[in-house]
Amino acid sequence: MCQWWLTYVNPYILIHLLNWCEVVFMKRTHWCGELRREHVGLEVVVNGWVHALRKVGRIVFLVVRDRSGLVQAVVTPKNPNYSLVSELSLESVVAIKGVVRLRPPNQVNPEMPTGEIEIDVKEVQVLNPAKPLPLPIFDKELMKTTSETFRLKYRYLDLRRFEMLRNLTVRAKFITALREFFNANGFIEVETPYLARSTPEGARDFLVPSRLYPGKFYSLTQSPQLFKQLLMIAGFERYYQVARCFRDEDPRADRQPEFTQFDVEMSFVTAEDVMNIVEEAMRYAFKKVFNVDLENPFPKIKYREAMDKYGIDKPDLRFELFLETVTEHVRGLIPLREGDVARALRFNFSEELTKNVEGLIKEIIPSDGKVKYVYVLRGSNDVVTNEVGLAGDLIKVFNLGIGEGLVVTSGEYIKASEAIGNLRNSLGKLLGLADKNTYKFAWVVDFPLFELDEEGRLTSMHHPFTSPKLEEIPKLDTNPLEVTAQAYDLILNGYEVGGGSIRINKRELQEKILAILGLSKDEMLDRYGFLLEALEYGAPPHGGIALGLDRLVAIALGYDNIREVIAFPKTKEMTDPMTGAPSKPPEEYLREIKWIKVLTD
Ligand code: AMO
Repeated sequence: MCQWWLTYVNPYILIHLLNWCEVVFMKRTHWCGELRREHVGLEVVVNGWVHALRKVGRIVFLVVRDRSGLVQAVVTPKNPNYSLVSELSLESVVAIKGVVRLRPPNQVNPEMPTGEIEIDVKEVQVLNPAKPLPLPIFDKELMKTTSETFRLKYRYLDLRRFEMLRNLTVRAKFITALREFFNANGFIEVETPYLARSTPEGARDFLVPSRLYPGKFYSLTQSPQLFKQLLMIAGFERYYQVARCFRDEDPRADRQPEFTQFDVEMSFVTAEDVMNIVEEAMRYAFKKVFNVDLENPFPKIKYREAMDKYGIDKPDLRFELFLETVTEHVRGLIPLREGDVARALRFNFSEELTKNVEGLIKEIIPSDGKVKYVYVLRGSNDVVTNEVGLAGDLIKVFNLGIGEGLVVTSGEYIKASEAIGNLRNSLGKLLGLADKNTYKFAWVVDFPLFELDEEGRLTSMHHPFTSPKLEEIPKLDTNPLEVTAQAYDLILNGYEVGGGSIRINKRELQEKILAILGLSKDEMLDRYGFLLEALEYGAPPHGGIALGLDRLVAIALGYDNIREVIAFPKTKEMTDPMTGAPSKPPEEYLREIKWIKVLTD
């Protein structure tokens, strides 16, 4: 790479030029974390960051870090680099040459994998000195009080922490294991477009303006749904993709505006076939990456049963705590509107958690007026409640003992159930009912095909391409809300980690469903004409699933927040404090896409 003429240049300049050519720095012979007793006597070079520096007497101890771990290097005043090393700032980038030797017995550090040895330094190169870091990345206590926005502003530093390195490494291993499994089972990995027409999954689209067609937009795909169906029509039979999905919805701990699916589709299959292969894939990947043996088979719960017993369609099944319907018990005590249902959850709690339980109830149950709730926490000396006038009656009616808590929600069945079902999932964690080391997968099946939205209109419970159970098709005309979908969700420890279905593969049925959803013939043709036409050219029976990769990895590693397993996530406010996205584009660009014209037209 460097030229002969460089040798005629002044040596000072030469060093800098060579540095620039990146041939002069001492390249690593070993990773920091791999050095052991068997390397004693060997001359090694390590490259990395200054993790710690301390002076004991006149000896400088330097801990060097690379992604494999830490190693101690020792510099004595005899070393020509001594003053250079003693002045080094933390997180500077260095190359260190030296000989591995055993540490004196009183200095062996059993906490450190390399704690038996150290490097007796011969030569040091400072490849890039670092300024003091704004983020206290290696101070666990300070990091706990650092805001997430600040962590994300300096994400590249935050990612230097071993925990983040571990999370992203595990994520990569998990994806690799899934790829291995699906490749071995005859699936073909295909990439589908991100710039497309709307693929609806119930969220708003992110729009990308077209420069060549001012006033027109691409939608970033909410999922590869339609493309994977077209691949089945194309005859690919078994497809998968690690696909980024874009959904303009408010982020939550388990939701990001862009996230990753492991997306799968298969032809000539039943719902059972898809569930079986996904179960096998989960068992393979969990064994390979986490050395965990999962249940075989995963249990199946019907949607209705899940709602009745747990209040939600993603119950945490690691603990047994069931809801009751108590409408008749509380009638006359709690004001109920026509058709309202009352649902109750009772549980044992230890009194030192009273405040936390109360806080959780207030945090989780929405205060939007649609659901009413009352709680009674009966301690040995006092009763904590939000309805003083009612507490005594409820204690009597429910025969509530000391150390028992009761929450009753009332309202429309789904809303009252979901509020208390979400509470149940979180209480399980707070009260220590959910074992952290258990992975409890299950399938939720027999979902209704439709539900009512806030305005009382029919909408798809999954997406409009989901097939109804064929024997229930006649009910589409009479009572569509009673039609069951051939859909299945995969749940894990209280989260939905996958969703899929058998698809509609006939034009007539697809048109019927779109019409029930309120689309006119023209709207159908405009939005989905390509799909409707494709269904007429030999569309095989097909179905599939998408697994939420971020959620799977986060849960497996014990996090509630998927941001911990995403390299560069968005904040709760949907921003990226590091790059400043979203940002105003330059006016020149707006002019180019004729945005200014569109707005003023
Ligand atoms: P669905 O919308 O259920 O199905 O998505 C599949 C899985 O993706 C995960 N997920 C998310 N993860 C993080 N942030 C989000 N905003 C987010 N939204 C969804 C969940 C979910 O179970 N096309 C269908 C799949 C199919 O029918 O094959 C689909 O996208 O874990």
